[in-house]
Amino acid sequence: MKQREGFSSGLTVFLVTLSSAVGLGNIWLFPYLTGSNGGAAFILIYLLCIAIVGLPVMLCEFFMGRRTKKNIIGAVTTLSNKKAFKSIGYLGMASTAMIAFFYAVVAGWVYSYVLKSITGTFKGVTNTEVKEIFTSSTTSIFPPAIWVFIVLTVVSIILISGVKKGIEKVTKVLMPILLILLVICVIKSLTLSGAKEGIEFLFKPDFSKVNMAVVVSALGLSFFKLSLGMGTMTTYASYYTKDSNLYGNAAKVIISDTLVSLLAGLAIFPAVFSFGLDPSSGPSLLFETIPLIFSKIPGGSILIVAFFLTAAFASTMALISMIEVLVAYFTEEKKMDRTKAVIIIVSVIFIVSAITSMTVSGGILSKYPLFDTFDKLTSSILLPLGGLIIAIFIGWFVNKKDFLDELSNEGALKQNITAAKISYIIIKFVTPILLIIVFLSSIGVI
Ligand code: PHE
Repeated sequence: MKQREGFSSGLTVFLVTLSSAVGLGNIWLFPYLTGSNGGAAFILIYLLCIAIVGLPVMLCEFFMGRRTKKNIIGAVTTLSNKKAFKSIGYLGMASTAMIAFFYAVVAGWVYSYVLKSITGTFKGVTNTEVKEIFTSSTTSIFPPAIWVFIVLTVVSIILISGVKKGIEKVTKVLMPILLILLVICVIKSLTLSGAKEGIEFLFKPDFSKVNMAVVVSALGLSFFKLSLGMGTMTTYASYYTKDSNLYGNAAKVIISDTLVSLLAGLAIFPAVFSFGLDPSSGPSLLFETIPLIFSKIPGGSILIVAFFLTAAFASTMALISMIEVLVAYFTEEKKMDRTKAVIIIVSVIFIVSAITSMTVSGGILSKYPLFDTFDKLTSSILLPLGGLIIAIFIGWFVNKKDFLDELSNEGALKQNITAAKISYIIIKFVTPILLIIVFLSSIGVI
């Protein structure tokens, strides 16, 4: 049998996992959700969700992947012979596919904005022009689909090249560039006059805007952000080295991902306030407000290329991690050749995404709100549901000793043993109860 591929070192384990977490979630969702839900108050709730739910579920997924070295279905069936839990795998794959359907569309817009930035489309644009550009980029029939095609072609080439020669190699180059580009944007934004207000907005909590709906969206964001609840982290962990420290890696990934989100906030909000724009403009923050701001600042025409390139790199790597869940399943469980699996999966994603791209508001198929449905259904329901089943599975149906052994590298990492015992209790009781409460209240039962 062909030997299973894996990542080559602890550093790549960290970088590749981070490359799945960092994506449009940091650069697009995090800023606009923070902007519309009370700034720092939302961030605090988000951090709480990560601590009580995100970290435990991430540990469960790391455990499932590295223990079994298998794709999501293979992992679940290896750990338990209860057929019902295969649902974790199927639910997970359905969620990743649904996310990919709308994610590829937004990634397509981002790619098109890279080109527009390079060709100077945003030079001297006005408020109305920026809106017109966004509307025409998202609602014309073919261009969005063509951009989706370009995004998916790039993704396929990397996926076909393999886990080591594709995913690992590209990540090692792109992640550092992404971080540098982002920091440059932050520095520029922070040095604008009036930046202080934006910083205050990000770090001074306004709890008057917080209600249950805000908690639900913070919870959904924490799953989406950390690529949890659907097997992405399980799949990547199945490529981890035996000696990598799962705890350390989870902590590093979560902290770094949160820092990237905050950096994106720091690149955006000081500039938004400096120009007297609306921080709660919603999804258009990235595609309208940002170009408008960059058109007004000195050196903006170069910075905007940097900004959208960052977003393009991030969305490409996140998409790769979603699709790898499906590729790993088809190559391992269905014994399909990797190239063939990638081509089939990506073709299906292309067709559905191309249709989805026409269902945004103003699009020719806007009567059928597929885009919004995929987005809402995954973040608010399917991912937390996946997380709930995963926590119940690990807490109640998997051998506790296996969990403690894996998280402490068979006892070699002594400090992890106590931490794993505490996490186990949280996974068994706290995480499921919390998820159930949030769920019930989100559907109005309590
Ligand atoms: N975490 C990614 C982001 O923030 C999105 C993602 C979701 C990636 C699901 C993989 C799986 O953009």
